[in-house]
Amino acid sequence: MIKAENLIKKFGTSTAVNNISFEVKEGENLILLGTSGCGKTTTLRMINRLIEPDSGTVYINGIAVNKQQPEMLRRGIGYVLQNHGLFPHYTVAENIAIVPRLLKWKSADITKRADELFEKLNLNPALKNQYPADLSGGQQQRVGLARSLMVNPPVLLMDEPFGALDNLTRISIRKEFRRLDELVKKTIIMVTHDVQEAFEMGDRICLMDKGEIQQIGTPEELLFQPANNFVAGFLNDQRMLLELKSVFLIDVLPGYSGESSLTVWDRMDNLLHPGNNTPAADQLTIDQLMSAFAAYKKR
Ligand SMILES: Nc1ncnc2c1ncn2[C@@H]1O[C@H](COP(=O)(O)OP(=O)(O)OP(=O)(O)O)[C@@H](O)[C@H]1O
Ligand SMILES: [Mg+2]
Repeated sequence: MIKAENLIKKFGTSTAVNNISFEVKEGENLILLGTSGCGKTTTLRMINRLIEPDSGTVYINGIAVNKQQPEMLRRGIGYVLQNHGLFPHYTVAENIAIVPRLLKWKSADITKRADELFEKLNLNPALKNQYPADLSGGQQQRVGLARSLMVNPPVLLMDEPFGALDNLTRISIRKEFRRLDELVKKTIIMVTHDVQEAFEMGDRICLMDKGEIQQIGTPEELLFQPANNFVAGFLNDQRMLLELKSVFLIDVLPGYSGESSLTVWDRMDNLLHPGNNTPAADQLTIDQLMSAFAAYKKR
């Protein structure tokens, strides 16, 4: 679906992106992860031609993006900017209507689509007449997402979509986002510097450093088969938590026949805080779960 081939971008004498290549399959969620200044935003912007690479090519569905009119190209690519990027002198309603207006949508259709997205994104319709500065950070972030989704583009680029939020709000918005039907079928490239966020939201993670890709792979691959010391070191601080959250019960417990999406972390949480959604008693103890997990890691 999206293919980046040997992208290089220099600013003056410094190289922001140094010969990177990756592919994203249709419906996949690829995370660009790395510390500040490693080239994540530059990479993202070369996909929708907000930045032109010095060399290398991006293809979408096999067609080089530099063979397409930038305006036409961007109609098929939603873009959520780092720090939401809403226009301060436009109301929320005006902000989210920008692209549909360019596409000559009827006002009634714009209103209908906006109402639909506001409901899905848990936004009070009354906010539509306010200006971005009157909204909380979380609301601005949701409006930024609504704007990018208005014309239902098949591809979505998100640059630190939760960057401006405090940790608790971040975690809850992240959960909501993963359940959002509007996002499920889309091909998404999302930038973050938050490891937990990357592991929670990514089908695959592209870990960058100093303009180069250190490793691309599933969360499990980065954890258990790190390509080099940089990758291992990057995850070390949170290794235990990341492992518990990315290993599935089905891979750890012999004969397990329950919900396939449950992780060791989910089951631990259940055992330590039994509540309404505790699965039918299976006699599993926390000790047995930890032993099974340790045995899995040894394999
Ligand atoms: N327009 C520009 N002019 C000059 N240098 C730039 C420009 N844009 C980016 N850079 C430099 O390129 C490098 C990569 O920047 P980029 O914005 O891609 O990083 P990033 O990974 O998105 O960082 P952050 O997490 O802080 O947003 C940085 O060293 C930055 O200073
Ligand atoms: Mg950036």
